[in-house]
Amino acid sequence: MVDGGLRESSPLILIMTRPIVFFVDDEPNVLQAILRITRREQYQVATFDNPIKALAELAAKEVAVVVADQHMPGMSGTEFLEKVRIQYPSTVRMILSGDAEIGSVLSAINQGKIFHFIMKPCGDDDLKSAINEAVKQHCLISENERLADLTKRQNQELIALNTTLEKRVEQRTRKIKQKESQLKEALKGIISAVALTVETRDPYTAGHQTRVGELACAIAKEMGLSHDQTEGVRLAGVIHDLGKIYVPAEILNRPGKLTHIERELIHVHPQVGFDILKDIHFPWPIAKIVHQHHERMNGKGYPAGLSGEDILLEARIIAVADVVEAMSSHRPYRPAPGIALALEEISSNSGIFYDADVVKSCLKLFAENKITLKGWMG
Ligand SMILES: [Fe+2]
Repeated sequence: MVDGGLRESSPLILIMTRPIVFFVDDEPNVLQAILRITRREQYQVATFDNPIKALAELAAKEVAVVVADQHMPGMSGTEFLEKVRIQYPSTVRMILSGDAEIGSVLSAINQGKIFHFIMKPCGDDDLKSAINEAVKQHCLISENERLADLTKRQNQELIALNTTLEKRVEQRTRKIKQKESQLKEALKGIISAVALTVETRDPYTAGHQTRVGELACAIAKEMGLSHDQTEGVRLAGVIHDLGKIYVPAEILNRPGKLTHIERELIHVHPQVGFDILKDIHFPWPIAKIVHQHHERMNGKGYPAGLSGEDILLEARIIAVADVVEAMSSHRPYRPAPGIALALEEISSNSGIFYDADVVKSCLKLFAENKITLKGWMG
């Protein structure tokens, strides 16, 4: 009797690269015939005289094909193959039976989901051909499983890589934002330093630019401009008279009324400020705002005589803040007219010199005491 042994050798000396085929049949002469028929085939054959022993051996190695007899004591071939299907789904199952009764055939196919039904007796070539087909089927199943496993692993690697990349992008974005914030802070510091330099030459207007920046910022907020745009308005205000460094200090600080030529000289300061700032890439249109802060809504301002919405909103805001602050402060050639007169000036010229919406917001700020600026007079 052949019992759980490999043909011509024990299971321990199997060459693992060759597919393994199990035969389970309670008739020793059938198993011996099987061994003889498959002697020269490319797969290894192991035979078992009962299904329990075959199940125990299946747990120990990967088996490509299991061929079982239908009628065995204790467990039918169908029951045995059903267990194989559940525990080792990639093992291809075949049934070998002399029972041609249709019910038995259908039961074997349906329960065991077998690959092939072989009728006993069958020719040697038919048997070998059927086993070879089953081995090929197992190769296909194994290759599919290998590819599915590979795809799964590659997907997991891609997900991991994607997560890593997302984290890196997040870190890089955070660093860029930090740098951007640092640069903006540095820029504000430089603008304040330049503003201070200008005012050092013109002590009578010391603090003028800072106060214009603060008032313009408050108006921008009141008008509902974004935080970033409001910050741009404040910085442009702080530096709006930068071009006055071109005007001789004697003229800026000289008490008394200015001559026509002196006034013309002072009128150049928005252009000078623009020329100094135009090549600096601020995150806000600072140079243009500085250029336009003496333009008027009716086109009677300078230096370009722009009108209405051709003037940047930020410049229209600074124009109002500039006038209000200037009239609230003393000058070498006059005492401060005061905030009341300043507000009257912008109110009576609303829509003529000054943007009506800007004037409205500025008046509201003072009416509701929302603006209390240190250093203001009047
Ligand atoms: Fe100015």
